[in-house]
Amino acid sequence: MKRVVCPGSFDPITFGHLDIIERASSIFDEVVIAVMVNQTKKTLFTVAERIEMTKEVTARYPNVKVDSWSGLLVDYCKRNEIAIIVKGLRAVTDFDYELQMSQINLQLQGVETLFISTAPAHSFLSSSLVKEIASHGGDVSSYIPAVLLERLKDRLAGK
Ligand code: PNS
Repeated sequence: MKRVVCPGSFDPITFGHLDIIERASSIFDEVVIAVMVNQTKKTLFTVAERIEMTKEVTARYPNVKVDSWSGLLVDYCKRNEIAIIVKGLRAVTDFDYELQMSQINLQLQGVETLFISTAPAHSFLSSSLVKEIASHGGDVSSYIPAVLLERLKDRLAGK
């Protein structure tokens, strides 16, 4: 069985993430979404909230599971016997950093990284941009699932 991990902060999960997850789920037997806890990155939502939102919007995919991890991604892979990381590549601006990470992960634990190119419709999309647009009252309904819109609005309003 080919099991892969799709890691990220998912703060919140966007249609760009979902596109990659859906396409990975049609290629591999099982996709584990690892909601990562990054001590150096301030997130809008707690890890429990990010897990809950991610589970809610991926519930329709029978071979997609949601988990979380704090620490090195390769340690998660080793513990769960996952040999492949799948990531979306949006543009050349992602490339340097992603190449460096993939090479480190290969060297640390022999974990391979496969890149799926983002659909052109999502090539500019990021959780950070969604939060920025929403924080100024902009419409982000084309970027994140409808069930997350109210939650994002409430959190940005300090609720
Ligand atoms: O959604 P993001 O924040 O862009 O995702 C980045 C993430 C969480 C996938 C990346 O920072 C990561 O893998 N962090 C875990 C720590 C790690 O393994 N770093 C690479 C080796 S230094």
